[in-house]
Amino acid sequence: MANVTFSSPRMKKDLTVYAVAGDTKTLLAVAKANNVPLQSECENGECGSCQVQVSVLSGKTPIGVALTEKEKLVLKLAGKITAQQIADAETKDLPPPWRLACQMVVRDEDILVKF
Ligand code: FES
Repeated sequence: MANVTFSSPRMKKDLTVYAVAGDTKTLLAVAKANNVPLQSECENGECGSCQVQVSVLSGKTPIGVALTEKEKLVLKLAGKITAQQIADAETKDLPPPWRLACQMVVRDEDILVKF
């Protein structure tokens, strides 16, 4: 079970929801299921409207990620990820601070999502 806390000036207060471990929902799907006003247009990793800043709250080492090529490209064009962060994600399993909610699968870790 993972706690996902959404925080945004677009919300009256932060909202923490529970995502079932082993579920393979995207962060965007979790947001939509809980009426979180997270922007999205293409829902396919192409427009960049669902950019979010993600941090792990547990104090543990973040779970490694495999960024899609689309996510790398869109975040790079938006200036939200560096070549070094892409390399770190690929070689050291270090997730970058910015993600696309429609591409990010929620894992079994507590996270803070700012948008
Ligand atoms: Fe377009 Fe996520 S909704 S990139």
